[in-house]
Amino acid sequence: MLQHQGSGLQDKQLIKNFSYINGSWHSSESNLAVTNPATGETITEVGNAGVAETKLAIKAAKGAFKMWAAKSANERAGLMKKWFDLLMQHQDDLARILTLEQGKPLAEAKGEIAYGAAFIEWFAEEGKRIYGDTIPAPSGDKRIIVIKQPVGVVASITPWNFPNAMIARKAAAALSAGCTFVVRPATQTPLSALAMAELAERAGIPAGVFNVVVGDDARGMGEILTQHPDVAKFTFTGSTAVGKSLISQCATSVKKVSMELGGNAPFIVFNDADIDAAVQGAVMSKYRNAGQTCVCTNRIFVQREVVAEFTEKFTTAVAALNLGDGLVDGITIGPMISSDAVNGVDALVKDAVAAGANIVLGGQRDSAGETFYQPTILTGVSNDMAIASHEIFGPVSPIISFETEEEVIAMANDTEYGLAAYFYARDIGLIWRVAEQLEYGMVGINEGAISNAAAPFGGVKQSGNGREGSKYGLDDYLEIKYLCMGGLGK
Ligand code: SIN
Repeated sequence: MLQHQGSGLQDKQLIKNFSYINGSWHSSESNLAVTNPATGETITEVGNAGVAETKLAIKAAKGAFKMWAAKSANERAGLMKKWFDLLMQHQDDLARILTLEQGKPLAEAKGEIAYGAAFIEWFAEEGKRIYGDTIPAPSGDKRIIVIKQPVGVVASITPWNFPNAMIARKAAAALSAGCTFVVRPATQTPLSALAMAELAERAGIPAGVFNVVVGDDARGMGEILTQHPDVAKFTFTGSTAVGKSLISQCATSVKKVSMELGGNAPFIVFNDADIDAAVQGAVMSKYRNAGQTCVCTNRIFVQREVVAEFTEKFTTAVAALNLGDGLVDGITIGPMISSDAVNGVDALVKDAVAAGANIVLGGQRDSAGETFYQPTILTGVSNDMAIASHEIFGPVSPIISFETEEEVIAMANDTEYGLAAYFYARDIGLIWRVAEQLEYGMVGINEGAISNAAAPFGGVKQSGNGREGSKYGLDDYLEIKYLCMGGLGK
């Protein structure tokens, strides 16, 4: 099992089978199987921790907080830099583990390791720039000073679609701000999280600063992470439905909360766009991770004059994607995470076809296995079909044609989500108007790949709150403290 799957690793110690709490590995009474979504085979088993271990991890993080917060920004940066170096040194092994448990093609998994590590490097540096303020006081015998301090223990729940990067971008900001961290990774993809813990330990990150608790008691562990009095801040990446319920749980102890939730990204191609560039951007933003990202294009709007050209070129590009097991050379799109996920996508496609959409490409499950769905393109879609109002989270592109700028802005904004949007155009006036009117936290303009450590990732409306990455990403992990110094007059 593990031996067979781990045999391709240069460093077999990166496969860990237990939760990592207070610098040690905790066995549990029962185990969880971790399966390869491409084959259905069990990769290995991981101890199934629960509420007790979650409380222990919070206790450890609480215990380590004063020590970690008291370190200088340079000391924290030094340790984080070592962690970054180790992650990059083990990029190939970490990518292999990630592909085994998540399914994305190996090249994409390597990209995710570098993407995740970049947050650790970036925030290691940014932690040195947590500046305070002095403010002119209303009277001469006073001084107003503002300092920023770490919030305390941060608890998080992270998803299976980016098993490394979604942890890295939260932990990096938290640790650089001086917070300690507990994560409950998705049970489908715990191995990447545990490998990160192994490397954090090798980097010398002290016990209790970074804790990983793996367990399938989502409700019980979630309640502890969101309600424990020693947790100061809670952060989540996942669906809007789950996010809403976690926010309400956090309300009981008024925790600081940041949420990176669902999306329904419009991808708009205007008549004057560079169509080849738009095709490239659409393939990138739609089919990355088999369509399973929150920022994946969900609806493609193409202006009437160019709809035929775009559809033809896009179909050729998507047909060239190579679907299969992400560990196999030349595969460019992997399986979905589960057969249930495939069922959900298939139901949306069937519903769209019943409502009048046409299948231009794919449109069905693939013979490669029960987790494989063919890269699909639909035309004749309208914005009121379920496929346009639901987050598809799979490799399906619905194309909707439009006539005017006003019409497409109205359709693009007609959703409760507001994470990412994309558009392709050349007219500079139109570019500014559209960029300003799209009700989204992130807008790719002539660009389909927008995520990086230096940029503020996050949404508006029901796509969440807070930002991850960039200088703004630190705010969620810091408290502002106002010091009023009085009695300074003679
Ligand atoms: C996500 O799907 O939540 C993250 C996608 C990204 O970081 O690009």
